[in-house]
Amino acid sequence: MCGIVGYVGAGEAVPLLLNGLGRLEYRGYDSAGLAVHSGSGLDLRKCAGRVEDLAQRLVANPVAGKAGIAHTRWATHGAPTRANAHPLTDCRGEVALVHNGVIENCDALRTKLSKLGHRFTSETDSEVVAHLIEEAFEGNLERAVAAALTRVEGTLGLAAMSVHDPARIVVARRGAPLLLGIGENEEATWVASDVAAVLEHTRNIVYLEDDEVAILTPSGHETINLGRDRGRVGWEPVPKEVSRIDWDLAKIEKAGYPHFMLREIHEQPHTVRDAMRGRLLAEEGTARLGGLDELRPDIDRAERIVLTGCGTSWHAALVGEYILEALARLPVEVEYASEFRYRDPIIAPGTLVGGISQSGETADTLAAVREAARLGAPTFGIVNVVGSTIARETRAGIYTHAGPEIGVASTKAFVAQVASLALLGLMIARRRGLGREEGRSFVRALDGLPALIGEVLATEDHIRRVAEEFADASNFLYLGRGPNFPIALEGALKLKEISYIHAEGYPAAEMKHGPIALIDENMPVVFMAPRGAVYSKVLLNIEEVKARGGRVIVLVTGRETDLGRKVDHVIPVPATLPLLQPIVNVVPLQLLAYHIAVLRGCDVDRPRNLAKTVTVE
Ligand code: G6P
Repeated sequence: MCGIVGYVGAGEAVPLLLNGLGRLEYRGYDSAGLAVHSGSGLDLRKCAGRVEDLAQRLVANPVAGKAGIAHTRWATHGAPTRANAHPLTDCRGEVALVHNGVIENCDALRTKLSKLGHRFTSETDSEVVAHLIEEAFEGNLERAVAAALTRVEGTLGLAAMSVHDPARIVVARRGAPLLLGIGENEEATWVASDVAAVLEHTRNIVYLEDDEVAILTPSGHETINLGRDRGRVGWEPVPKEVSRIDWDLAKIEKAGYPHFMLREIHEQPHTVRDAMRGRLLAEEGTARLGGLDELRPDIDRAERIVLTGCGTSWHAALVGEYILEALARLPVEVEYASEFRYRDPIIAPGTLVGGISQSGETADTLAAVREAARLGAPTFGIVNVVGSTIARETRAGIYTHAGPEIGVASTKAFVAQVASLALLGLMIARRRGLGREEGRSFVRALDGLPALIGEVLATEDHIRRVAEEFADASNFLYLGRGPNFPIALEGALKLKEISYIHAEGYPAAEMKHGPIALIDENMPVVFMAPRGAVYSKVLLNIEEVKARGGRVIVLVTGRETDLGRKVDHVIPVPATLPLLQPIVNVVPLQLLAYHIAVLRGCDVDRPRNLAKTVTVE
């Protein structure tokens, strides 16, 4: 959601903070701000708009200091204005605070604090925390932060500074991601909501857990566990393990592409290869997934799997449902995480619950896997970000190894999720009686996917020309059947996310139960029509659309001369096994959405109103 970065060290804080904010901007980008301690006081600069706007403001009106905190915001409470931008302060301007998450009892706290004479200058929920710190402050910032935490309900990752302490940042985590960066060969300590903000300076990372407070100084950090009893302030120093991050900076740069999203689309042959690396056992015709070893007995006994996630990850789960059921003959249900967590789900013995998440931090998905664990289900994660909360809290898991995904609209993370689900399906299927030969041919097909994705990418010019014809459309329909139905949903989601064109995905045969009423010459319809069991049925649906004047774009496998005469555009894709075809078919839809969005002048990597990682409900 929002991005936090803080620095205390020997260097000048402002350029470091601005650089870190730039790396975090994909997390939220409607306003930005920072506070630095100049040695004699706290200086704040903030504005509505992007990090570039903040940087310009700092050129005109500079500040200097060796400790500071900074924030890029995705508005929840209060419009994206300068007043609502973080850092927020207490009444006296003695505490500056940046916060990520939602304070659920902020209205009640605001009323109480107002009665005590506190004056609020923003509409944010976060500001109450600054005033709570002010209330509790008796000369020691960390104690005041801890006391404030006992009064707030909700989620938070926060960083605070006090005017009384020029070289100290206090940070706390409850439910929203927060990590520390430990300076390598220099006196410097960092805090960030995302490793991308600090990677340029250090790869030594300490992940904070819920209810931990850390005190950062140039020479290091001390971490305190406040205990689970939120009514009282516990105070127990905890030793923290330092993890070494193996991403490098090149992975979070555009590498010559105009947008991160395009770079990430083009990376997908490697992404799929990386998701499978070391996991395919060609001879035995199966997959090895070491991260699931601990759940092996539960997997063998499983009678049902529930897959849960949000957004694109939910679409990956839907593809997973087709793959797992067809291959392993194991019943799978897919649930929106936001629904699962509140609907008193039935978790009978023999049910496994898998949370799928690129970031590993999505609030609803995290809550869903926690709820599943509370109900006694063995849980696993299919997660991209190593060390993220879902990865740590589930009992076992599969890392998708897609590397950092910066474009807000998910692309490579999706294909890595589906590839991981295919590995999972294969592994379970082979343990449940799928023959070795069938397993081997599935392995061969998986192994061939990177080359097939490469073939699709080579047709980008053709897809761009199709995009040119439809860039002015107001609506789009995407239709597919079987495992390509979720791809219709995903294609529609990509288009609406980045081009703001209204788009819907449907199972192709459902078209006649409603969407057909929308079809006229202004309604482009994208069909997925790979050769296979339902090919002739999809052709019938295409005829139905053409008969009503709709404009048709069809994804086909192989050469389709006949179809080419009937429809407006054909996008050929190479064929693979039907269960793996979604991994190939999603790629042209990503490119179509990308080029339409670019032609419409949209900010592809930072689409309006969206955030990369949604850490609020
Ligand atoms: C946000 C992002 C989507 C993503 C979804 C789930 O809405 O904009 O791209 O699919 O969250 O995120 P996750 O990190 O859990 O996969």
